[in-house]
Amino acid sequence: MLPYDALEALARERLPQAVFDYYAGGSGEESTLADNTAAWARLRLRPRILRDVSSVDTSTELLGVKLAAPVLVAPTAFHSLAYPEAELATARGTREAGSLLVLSSRASRRIEDVAALAGPWWFQVYVFRDRGLTRALVQRAVAAGARALVLTGDTPYVGRKRRNRGDSALPLPDEELLVNLEGLTHRSLAEQAPDTSFADLDRLREDSGLPVLVKGVLRADDARECLHHGAAGLIVSNHGGRQLDGALATAEALPEVVEATGGRVPVLVDGGVRSGGDVLRALALGARAVLLGRPVLWGLATGGADGVRQVLDSLREDTAHALALAGAPDLSRVGADLLAPPRRP
Ligand SMILES: Cc1cc2nc3c(=O)[nH]c(=O)nc-3n(C[C@H](O)[C@H](O)[C@H](O)COP(=O)(O)O)c2cc1C
Repeated sequence: MLPYDALEALARERLPQAVFDYYAGGSGEESTLADNTAAWARLRLRPRILRDVSSVDTSTELLGVKLAAPVLVAPTAFHSLAYPEAELATARGTREAGSLLVLSSRASRRIEDVAALAGPWWFQVYVFRDRGLTRALVQRAVAAGARALVLTGDTPYVGRKRRNRGDSALPLPDEELLVNLEGLTHRSLAEQAPDTSFADLDRLREDSGLPVLVKGVLRADDARECLHHGAAGLIVSNHGGRQLDGALATAEALPEVVEATGGRVPVLVDGGVRSGGDVLRALALGARAVLLGRPVLWGLATGGADGVRQVLDSLREDTAHALALAGAPDLSRVGADLLAPPRRP
């Protein structure tokens, strides 16, 4: 793979400035955005030697879905800003790489059209002010074959970003902005509901009959509450540094969430994962898989479906390489022993 920085630079050349800023930016001072990548780098590894790593297997299974590597595509909004075929291209590239797409509630193509091209996929849910609209959207996702729902819990309001002045700065026509929200009577009803609560998790499970994962977990008490309400999995995330600025890096939050779940449900993580070494670190901390946000957007912007596939394929290869050098021929050999204790300040 192009190293991440080079890929980002190429995407920056291709995209209009407002779009690049919307994708790349974080909230506030962007301190959480920066710390997400830095926190992975702070974790040092303790590789094993003299293990036969002539063949390395990165494959895994997650909630009944087989994956080529423990890497999923995170839900991100409005792919038509990056590439004309938008989520249709993302779906194809993801499928070809043997990965899983988490389709955003804010997709710019119809759910049914994306589903027709996708391999296994999950649907990300924002609970809208109009709960009827949310239910209708979820019913469509279920009918179209989503294997699970992902309730995003960290977005009662959209975090304020300096680089961008909201949707209005983006070159996105209303038909695409609201493509999945037919029957909307007023635009404000499609905003995230600030009163979203654990009761919505119960409702989503009952309405859909699907496993529901919760995204945005950073604390043990929230993790336990999610399990109490029947969550099928947790995603440790700070929304790629786009919600509360100053929120801790996901690499730092992951251990307490893993501990709180006690192995009862899979814990996933996203935010700043950029290399096979980062994937290895996440797994060593107890995550079952990682999700990629911006790297996939840059792949989409620079090469459409092929670009998405290349990003995922190269991260899989880089993960295999990191596993080999750590002396771990498959994911079952990755544990906390591969991590060194933190350096004293
Ligand atoms: C441009 C952009 C749009 C996003 N849109 C959504 C969204 O619609 N729903 C959601 O749950 N998360 C959304 N996220 C957050 C991602 O799912 C993910 O948590 C984050 O991008 C991971 O960090 P990374 O970009 O450093 O890999 C978005 C992130 C970006 C960068």
